[in-house]
This record gives sequence, C-alpha cells and structure tokens, in this order.
Amino acid sequence: MDFAIRSDNPEKYRGDCIVVGVFESRKLTEAARVLDEAGKGHLGRIVDQGDMDGRANTTLLLHGISGIDSKRVLLIGLGKEEEFGEKVFLDVVRTIFKALQPTGVKDVGLYLTELTVKGRDVAWNVLQTVILAEESAYRFDRLKSKPEGRQPSLAKVDIGITDTSTAAAVETALQQGLAIAHGMKVTKDLGNLAPNICTPSYLAGQAEEMARTFNLKFSVLEEKDMEELGMGALLAVARGSHQPAKLIVLEYHGGKDSEKPVALVGKGVTFDAGGISLKPAAEMDEMKYDMGGAASVFGTLTAVAELKLPINVIGVIPTTENLPGGNATKPGDVVTSLSGQTIEILNTDAEGRLILCDALAYTERYDPEVVVDIATLTGACVVALGHVVSGVMGNDEPLVQELLQAGEQTYDRAWHLPLFDEYQEQLKSNFADTANIGSRWGGAITAACFLSRFTKKFRWAHLDIAGTAWKSGKEKGATGRPVPLLTQFLISRANKH
Ligand code: BES
Ligand code: MN
Ligand code: ZN
Repeated sequence: MDFAIRSDNPEKYRGDCIVVGVFESRKLTEAARVLDEAGKGHLGRIVDQGDMDGRANTTLLLHGISGIDSKRVLLIGLGKEEEFGEKVFLDVVRTIFKALQPTGVKDVGLYLTELTVKGRDVAWNVLQTVILAEESAYRFDRLKSKPEGRQPSLAKVDIGITDTSTAAAVETALQQGLAIAHGMKVTKDLGNLAPNICTPSYLAGQAEEMARTFNLKFSVLEEKDMEELGMGALLAVARGSHQPAKLIVLEYHGGKDSEKPVALVGKGVTFDAGGISLKPAAEMDEMKYDMGGAASVFGTLTAVAELKLPINVIGVIPTTENLPGGNATKPGDVVTSLSGQTIEILNTDAEGRLILCDALAYTERYDPEVVVDIATLTGACVVALGHVVSGVMGNDEPLVQELLQAGEQTYDRAWHLPLFDEYQEQLKSNFADTANIGSRWGGAITAACFLSRFTKKFRWAHLDIAGTAWKSGKEKGATGRPVPLLTQFLISRANKH
C-alpha cells in the first residue's frame, strides 16, 4: 500500500473516496464543513435528515456529489467531541478501512488526521493510521489452495494535512509507521504459519534470508555446538522432538563500532505441546504461536533495518519444539545450564524459561548494553493482564521505564509487575540449584524470577507477551505485537545519541 501526505483542500481531492468526520450530534468537522460548502450544502442536508448523526463508528457512503471532485464521500461518526480520545480514534480508523473493504475504492483521502486526539499530536495520528491501514489489508491465505473472498482493492492512502508546520514530524511518523507495519507483517506471517512448516530450521532459513536482504550478520548454533558449550537447559527441551533445535543470532550494525549492542532475545518454541507434562488437547493448535517472541525479534529487526537506525542491535533466538517423544525430558530430570547452575525440571511445560536461560547466558558474550527478552511465557500473565497489555519485569528500573514509555507512545502498552525477592523462594529445589516452576500463584512473576537468575551480569528486562502476541476465537491470528513497542524503544535510544 502507498501512502502520501497531501495538503490540498478536501474538495479538490480527486480520488475514489474522501473520508470526513461528523461529531455527535450532527456536527461537521472542519474538513467536512469545507466539503459541504463545495457541495452546496449536500452533506449538511443529509446529516439534518438524520442519515448520519455522528455516533461513533457509524458510516455513510455517498456517491457523485456535484461540486466535490472525489467520486465518493464516506462520512464517519466520531462520537462526542469531548470524548474523542485514543481508543475512539483507533476504533474509528479501523471502521473506516472496514467500511471501504466491500467497495472497489483504490485510493482514499483521509481528512480527519488533524482532529485533536486527547493527549496526542498529529504525528501520532498519522503513525497509527498507517499501521491500521496496513493491518486492514493483511491476509494470511498462502496455505489456501485458492484465495477466498474479495481481495482488498485499496492501494493508496492519502492523508490530508492542512497545517504545514507539522510537515516534518508527520513525514517522520509516516516512515516510522510504515516500518513498524512492515515489521508487524513479518511477525504475523511467521506466527500464523503452520507449525509443520515453521520449524526451528525454517526460522534459521528465514533469518539467513533476512541477513542477506538487510546485510546483517548471521550465525547459528547447532545442537552439537550447544552440547560443546554446555547448553543443557535448551537441549533438555529439544530432546522430545525430531526437529533439531537452533540458536540463531542476527546482528544489525547501524551504530559506531564502539557502541555496545541492545540485545533482543526471543522465545522461539515453534510448537509447545508441553512435553511429558502434556497440555490438554483443546486449542492446542494455538501453541504454534509460542514462537511469538522470536517472531517479534524478526519483525523489529526488519523495522530497524528499514529505518536504518543508527544503533547496534542483536537478535538472539533460541528455537525448538516441545514434544513428548520417547527420549523427552521427564519431570524430575536435573540438567546443567550454560551458566553452570543446575535446574530440576519439575514441569516440562515450563520450557520457555529453559531455552531462554541458556540464550540469556549466551548473550553475555556479546557484551550487551541492555538485554530485553520477549516471550509467550506464561498463561498466568494472561490471567493477570488479559489481552490488553504485555507484562514487563526486570532488574533495572530505568530500562523497565523505557519499555513502558515506548509502549505508551505506540499504544502497544505494557504493565510493570513486581519482581520482589520474596517470590524467589518458590523456586527452591531439594535436588538442584533451582526448580523450573514455582507454586500456582504469581506464575508470571516466578517465571521472570527464574530468568533473573541468569541475567545478573547485565541490565535486563523481560516482556511476557502470552496475552498480546495473538488473538483466539473467530479472528484467530498473530497480532504483530510487541513490534511497535520494541521499535519505538530502539528509535528513542537511537535518538538519544
Ligand atoms: N507457552 C506457554 C505459555 C502460554 C500459555 C502462552 C497459554 C499463551 C497461552 C508456556 O510454555 C507454558 O506452558 N507455561 C506454563 C507454565 C507452568 C507449567 C508453570 C503455563 O503457563 O501454564
Ligand atoms: Mn509450555
Ligand atoms: Zn511455551
């Protein structure tokens, strides 16, 4: 999809459709008023008749109004003017693209980007609009023998801006929005792909291809390398599967040589059946998304490379299946991790932390500035926070604040959970240095506590994205989160120096 910023008057917009807003009750926005004037009061009359009263997310599509150059006018209800905030704005933009879908509209001019959204600026409105436009066109039909339903016709989105003083900020927002949207698509595609196709080897292949496209450094550890290094925790998870585990490293070099890299470590369990601690059958297919953290590292690196950010970033992706094969790890097995700490595996379904602890210990040798791991780690995090925000924990308050802030800025929000020492007690083992699970309570936190035992040598934060990386139900699919948060985090860091 193409995007452009336009500063001509709405009545001069000569596309397939122009979109203007109406507040409740029946109040035309400035752009709608200008358009109405050009159309000799046509819009006003329709609104007065009661066909559009401005209730949020109602739409009315009009055709061939004389005096207006655009072939169609889409009126969109914006709700009460004093309640026009972030959520309403985002819902309204989503509604617009949905309303356009059954039409043949190829190019659309949006004239509501300059509306004041409480607490936000025009650049934010533009960035979100770009992301939502790309999202509305997203399909995952490569596994269908023939495409279903109507293919999206929308190819061009013009964003009308009259206040040219914001032009530079708006242009930057457009580029960042596009990069984030492209990164989200990469993340969604990997997440949605069937787990018989998206295996650890497939991810390694994708990483290699990405390295070629963006000129990144690529390396991969095979199981024999892991054995030599002593990655007993990662290997313990891989034992039940016939697919070989991999540890992928991608290095993006946009900053000075002397600058330490930001490390992103993504959980890449391409299918989590639970291992011997087998999961129930219902909805088990959704455990193909258990590589959402890894997928978000791919997506974020795509966005970073596209924006050519002046920063060094490395992506570390431990990837394996978690299956109950005859050779699988059993509850009670004790393994030695790369860090030297021994782990009693009491539940083989707590596998994410096992592959991450070795990946985190391995990341040490890249001398990172900060380390952020991203993982669909616990059902407990979904119980605590639902599907709205990701959980964030860490050993460095400023880093946690940076991530929260990046999430707030992009509306890909996260929430800080406590990592108090009291929770560590749950991880005591009678037979090894540490157990891999705690009690039933505070599961998202005890998982992070486990990771914290392997991150003592650097500033570290953990994002639990179990609730945010994908949607269940009718609209089942990967969401592309937390690519906006992570990309913004890196944009902000790159801007600082
Ligand atoms: N991949 C799951 C976490 C998960 C569960 C993500 C539901 C999304 C939805 C993880 O590997 C897991 O199985 N965690 C266990 C940990 C438990 C055994 C301590 C869980 O959350 O039940
Ligand atoms: Mn599991
Ligand atoms: Zn898992």
